[in-house]
This record gives sequence, structure tokens and C-alpha cells, in this order.
Amino acid sequence: MNMHSSEAATAEEAIAAQEALPPLDNDAATAVAMQNTLLTPRFYTTDFDEMDAIDVTPVRDEWDALIAQMKSDPNKGHFKKTADWDADWENMDPALKAEFIDFLISSCTAEFSGCVLYKEMKRRGSNTDITTLFQLMARDEARHAGFINDALREAGIAVNLGFLTQQKKYTYFRPKFIYYATYLSEKIGYARYITIFRHLEEHPDKRFHPIFKWFREWCNDEFSHGEAFALLLRTDPKLTQGRMNRLWIKFFLTAVYGTMWVRDHQRPEFHKALGVDPAWYGQEVYRKTSEISKQVFPMTLDIDHPRWRKGLDRLQDASVQVARAKKRGGVGGMVSRIGGMTKATLAFVSLYAIPAIPNETPVSSRMEPAY
Ligand SMILES: [Fe+2]
Ligand SMILES: [Fe+2]
Repeated sequence: MNMHSSEAATAEEAIAAQEALPPLDNDAATAVAMQNTLLTPRFYTTDFDEMDAIDVTPVRDEWDALIAQMKSDPNKGHFKKTADWDADWENMDPALKAEFIDFLISSCTAEFSGCVLYKEMKRRGSNTDITTLFQLMARDEARHAGFINDALREAGIAVNLGFLTQQKKYTYFRPKFIYYATYLSEKIGYARYITIFRHLEEHPDKRFHPIFKWFREWCNDEFSHGEAFALLLRTDPKLTQGRMNRLWIKFFLTAVYGTMWVRDHQRPEFHKALGVDPAWYGQEVYRKTSEISKQVFPMTLDIDHPRWRKGLDRLQDASVQVARAKKRGGVGGMVSRIGGMTKATLAFVSLYAIPAIPNETPVSSRMEPAY
């Protein structure tokens, strides 16, 4: 009897379990997952030797507690269908179905992007603290990606994870930027999943697909991953202190928040079905993420600044213009596309120029998922 990805102890086992399932129409979903634009999830590579050299001694107690908790594996076996799984693809409105599939493919790619990076770090490293952590995180992300693929399979498609590992383009980030970006994406992932989960607790009639029922345990995994990166960032003050670091952290915060806004506004039917206003959702997720990120970042973005929403809306308008121009093609399309990209850049600069709110980080970064 083959093992299911939810029971796997390692990322490799989870991926193999997924690949052993009967082949479906992988091509369409994999083509979407292969896209590399500013808005789609990317795969990352880094200087693994530099990461391997991290010494976690300064945060030893918190580190050991976190690793012990992850090793205890509270979510083993969670990410698989049970009697609670009542998916009804047949009766889903076609426009909603298209957006939901896009959401699932993009989420699967993002989960798997984490898996590939963490798995590679484990493979290349020799520092037991680091390899243990990365093996545990890769395990979780492989289960998450596998579970989303299970959901997609019912709609007759799946992302070919093995193909993606080999063929998708890898973007290089130096380790410090990997910490900023992954710390943020883990914490924003937690905030996104828990906000939807809590909303659907109050409005169960809006739960148009069963996968949302799995979100609470899911986001607890992401929360732990974020805690691990918070600890890594705290091993060395040189990683977060000083003027240049502040500028870079602000850049990553603005880019991640801005991308999320644009992406979410591309899925109006999905949000309508959930009964969620994407603008409300965005601000809610930023608020939670900002509050959590005070554990390690020297500032938060001023998301209540009068120019914040305006800047996001301008970014959104510009991205609509770029998408339309791409479709149109030809010289007219190209001119309009360049215009749209210029507008997007200006909107981003205006968001980035909003003064940040300085933050004094606490002595211990330890946090529990509280939302
Ligand atoms: Fe994940
Ligand atoms: Fe994660």
C-alpha cells in the first residue's frame, strides 16, 4: 500500500507519494506553475554555504524548543481528505472554478517553492541545527503542496512537481534576502490562511470548497516556519540593524504587500464567493503580518497613511493596463504596456516613500499563533 504525502516523514517521500498517483492533465496546470512574472511564485536559490555557517547559539533555548515542537509533528496525517471533504466541482460556477483553480495552482507553486529551497538547504548543509530545521520545513511544505494537488486532481488536473523542480527557473537571492523574503512569506501565509479560516467560521455558508476547513492546522505550520526564520534573523544583529538593512526590509515589505494586493484583485469571483472584500482582506492581512513582524523587523509599514490605499489602487490600475496591453499585442499594445509599467513603478515608489513606523524589537521573538 502506497503512503500518502500527508504521512511522509520527509519531503522526498511526500513528493514520491504524489508522483506515484495516476497521471492526469499535468500540462495546463504545470504551464501556469512554470510562469515567472513579477506576480507569480518563484523558485529561489542562494549561497547555501553561507547559510550553513549560521551559529544559533545566541538563540539556543528558543531554537531547541521550536525544533522539538516541529519534530513532535502535530500535523502528521492531517493533510489528506477525510469524511469532511465534500468538494463539488460539478456545481461550481465556471468563472469561480477558473479563478479557484488559478488560486490552487498558485498556492501549490508557492508551497512547493518553499519545499524546493528548504530541501536543497538540507541536502547541501552540514550544520546539524540548520539541516534539521530545513528538513522539517521541507517535509511540511511538501505535504501542503501534495494536499493542494489532491484537491486539483479532482478537477482533473495536477501540477507536475518533479518537472517543476527540474525545469522552473531559479532566482538567486543572497541569504539575508532569503531570510527577509521567506520570513515574510511564512508570516503573511499564516495571516492569509487564518483570516480566511476565521471569516468562514463565522460564515460557513460561504465555504464553497472543503479545503478551507484544513486551514487552521495549515497556518500553524506556516507560523512555526516564520518563527524559525525570526530566530535565524536574531542570531546576528547585522542581519536586521543599520540603515541599509532597514531600506531593504522596507523594500521587501512593500513588494510583498503590493504583490498580494494586485494578485488578490485579479480574483474577483473567488473573493465574492467567499464573501470577502479583497481590499478589506488585504488590510486585515497586512495588519496581522505587521503586528507579528514587530518580533524581528525594525519597522512596520504605515498602512493607515492616506497615501497607502491610493498607491495600492494605482498599482492595481497599472497592472490591469499591463495585462490588457499584453493581450492586445502589436505596437499599440507595447506602448500601452510600457506606459503601464511606468505607472506601476511610480506607484511602487510612492508607496515605498511613505515614512515607516520605527519599531523596537523585543529581547525574545517567541510568539504563539494568536489570531
Ligand atoms: Fe506551507
Ligand atoms: Fe511554510
